[in-house]
Amino acid sequence: MKIYRQELEKIKGYKPGKPIEEVKRELGLAQVYKLASNEIPFSPFYIDKAILDDLKNINRYPEGGCFYLRERIAKKLKVAKNQIIFGNGSDELIVLTLRALIEKGDEVIVSYPTFLIYEIQARINNAKVIKVPLKNLGYCLDEIAKKVTKKTKIIFIANPDNPTGTYLPHRDVESFLKKIPDRVLVYFDEAYFEFAPKDFPRTLQFLKGRKNVMLTRTFSKAYGLAGLRIGYGVASRELAEILNKVREPFNVNRFAQVAAIAALKDKYFLKKVVSYIKREKLYLYKELKKCGLCFRQSATNFILIDYGKDTTGLYNYLLSKGIVVRTLKSWGLDNFFRVTVGKHKENKKFISCLRQCFSQK
Ligand SMILES: Cc1ncc(COP(=O)(O)O)c(C=O)c1O
Repeated sequence: MKIYRQELEKIKGYKPGKPIEEVKRELGLAQVYKLASNEIPFSPFYIDKAILDDLKNINRYPEGGCFYLRERIAKKLKVAKNQIIFGNGSDELIVLTLRALIEKGDEVIVSYPTFLIYEIQARINNAKVIKVPLKNLGYCLDEIAKKVTKKTKIIFIANPDNPTGTYLPHRDVESFLKKIPDRVLVYFDEAYFEFAPKDFPRTLQFLKGRKNVMLTRTFSKAYGLAGLRIGYGVASRELAEILNKVREPFNVNRFAQVAAIAALKDKYFLKKVVSYIKREKLYLYKELKKCGLCFRQSATNFILIDYGKDTTGLYNYLLSKGIVVRTLKSWGLDNFFRVTVGKHKENKKFISCLRQCFSQK
């Protein structure tokens, strides 16, 4: 007799990029370069003081409503304070939204392949998942609009997208939204927002006068706080209130809150990261071209690469050299792999190991 929900057995859990500690343990390597989870390669120096100052309060629960951070983000984005919701990473906001909106039989539309958490969590929350294939590695908004039925509750859009690194520009999103009925929530996941180019959608404009649009962003990527887990969403007041109701009371820890405030105060670090990533992407593009590999220009801090054949051998070879990349088999892209932009010496080592792997064949 099984005591849990039987349908959960059919759902494959999320498999993250291998952590550095695990690779060191398993392969007995002293040096491991992780280019697998779209983190930035620098630890933000600006947060030390904020965290040390708050250390003396660690015996107390954090403020569940993230009061001071909320004030800052509201001011920065020019939205009302009660339109904001915070999550233990932006991942949690996906879960909370599904928890709040989905009733049995409801449908959720996702592209395929895209960030896997939408599908996994939608299924855990009893939604039927409708998958719309990418076209030329980009979202096909016309096809997505055609799939909307009376049962559709949420459309998840990762913009820029993971794992492709492609993005939808403002005008495409604007005309898409005109086709979507008010009863369907369009969820824009903007985890890589800070890296995106100029014609990226001004999504906050779409929230004005609409109750069926929300966006989420994160401190995990460009701000370098992946290990602390903090992201936020902006929605209509009504939806934000409901999402706040369904979250755990202390979902965002103290250090995440003070570090995020410090992150917003320090404009220099973010600027430095964004220009660094731009520069290193150019280096990687140039070297990948020399290797004869196909890839798409990326609006993020990672690059999707077409290896032209199964990537298992390459993945294992790189791993044996202490370089962790991401194969995309779970996404159904058997011949592709994804590399996160690392420190320059890490990128150089990646390229040189890639070359060695080619020369062995
Ligand atoms: C598209 C997308 N959304 C959300 C996330 C999760 O970010 P967070 O660390 O804020 O939970 C990721 C992480 O890789 C992502 O790629």
